[in-house]
Amino acid sequence: MNQAWYSELPEARDEEIRAALDRACARVQRNLPQFTTQYQSACSTDLQYKPIANTDWTNGFWTGEIWLAYEHTQNEQFKNAALIQVRDFERRIAQGIQVDHHDLGFLYSLSCVAGWKLTGDETARRAALMAADKLITRFQEKGEFIQAWGEMGVAENYRLIIDCLLNLPLLYWASETSGDPRYADIAQRHIHTAMNCVVREDYSTIHTFYFDPHSGKPLRGVTHQGNRDGSAWARGQAWGVYGTILSYQYTQDPKILTLFEKISDYYLRHLPQDLVPFWDFDFTDGSSEPRDSSSAAIVICAFLEAARTLDQQKAAYYSRWARQMMKSLLDHYEVKDDSRCNGLLLHGTYNRSTPTNTCRNEGVDECCSWGDYYYMEALTRFLKDWNRYW
Ligand code: GLY
Repeated sequence: MNQAWYSELPEARDEEIRAALDRACARVQRNLPQFTTQYQSACSTDLQYKPIANTDWTNGFWTGEIWLAYEHTQNEQFKNAALIQVRDFERRIAQGIQVDHHDLGFLYSLSCVAGWKLTGDETARRAALMAADKLITRFQEKGEFIQAWGEMGVAENYRLIIDCLLNLPLLYWASETSGDPRYADIAQRHIHTAMNCVVREDYSTIHTFYFDPHSGKPLRGVTHQGNRDGSAWARGQAWGVYGTILSYQYTQDPKILTLFEKISDYYLRHLPQDLVPFWDFDFTDGSSEPRDSSSAAIVICAFLEAARTLDQQKAAYYSRWARQMMKSLLDHYEVKDDSRCNGLLLHGTYNRSTPTNTCRNEGVDECCSWGDYYYMEALTRFLKDWNRYW
C-alpha cells in the first residue's frame, strides 16, 4: 500500500487512552440507574438511548460495557449490575424470548461468557451454553451455514450474513468449556462456506448470501444494509475483519489468516483521510453521506487481536493503524458533552435506507450500542493483555 499519506497521522498515546477509558466508565456508571433492569436501545434517537427490555439482538453490548467498566475500575457496583443482567439473559434463553435468530453470539458472549470468565458465575456459563445449543439448531446441512434470520428452511430466509462471524466465538468457547466438539465443528463449516461466498475477488465483502434450500447450491449475494448489492457495506467489511482474526485464533487455519489480511487491506485502502469510514465504501471524502464510527471501533479491536498473535513486523503494522484510528475517534468522535448525549461514540450509522437496499432508516448519524461497546473494548485492549469475551 502507498505509505505516503497515512504514515504521518498521529497515534493515540496510552495516557489519553487511559483518560478516555476513565471517562467512558464514568458515563457507564451515570447510566446504571436507568439501565440495570432495562437496557440501552440499539441506537440513540437524537443522541439519547432509550430504555428497552431484553428483546433485541443488541442487548449484550450494554452488559459488555458494564463488564469492561468493572474490569477497569474493579468497582463492585458494575459487577452487581452486570450479574443482574446475566440472570435476565438466563431467563431470556430459558424462556425462548426473541432467540430465533443467529445473533446469540453477540448476546451471550458479551453478557454470559464475559460474566463466567470474570466471576466464575455458574448461571452465566449455563446460560451461554444454552445459547450455543440454540445457535447450532440454525445450522443448515444443505449449504453448510448458520441461517441468519427467520423461519428455518424457507427459501426467502435461506441465507447467511457476514455479521454471523461474530457469533462463532460462542461456539468455539462452548466446545472448549464443554469438551463437545460439535459446536466448533459447526463454526468451522460455517466460516468455510461464508468465506467462499461473501468475499469478492478484490476482497471487498457481500453482506448476505442465498442458497438453494433443496440442493444447498450457492445462489446469489445481495445486500440488506449496504448501499447496493455490488458495494462494500462498511460495517459488514468490519465484521469480516474481526470475524476472520477471531476464527483464526481458534482454528489456526492459515487460509483464514490470509483472508483477514486481504479483507483488512481492502478496508484500509478505502478509508477516508480521517480513517473513519462512511457507512458504505461507495462513499469517501467529499460525500455528504454519514459515517459509521462503529465500523472503525470494530476494526481497531480486530487489529489489536491480530497484533498479539502475528510476527513483530505485522504486529507493529496493525498496532500503528489501530492507534491512528483510535486517535481520530478520540479527537473527533468521542461524546464530549454529557448533557447532549448519553452514549460514548458519535456518528455511527445503524441502517441507512437506499433505493437499492432493503433496510429502513434507523440510527443514522447516532450512537450505536455496539459502537460504544467496541470503542470500550478497543480502549481496554490498548491498556492490557485482555482476556477476550469472544
Ligand atoms: N448485525 C447487524 C448490524 O451490524 O447492523
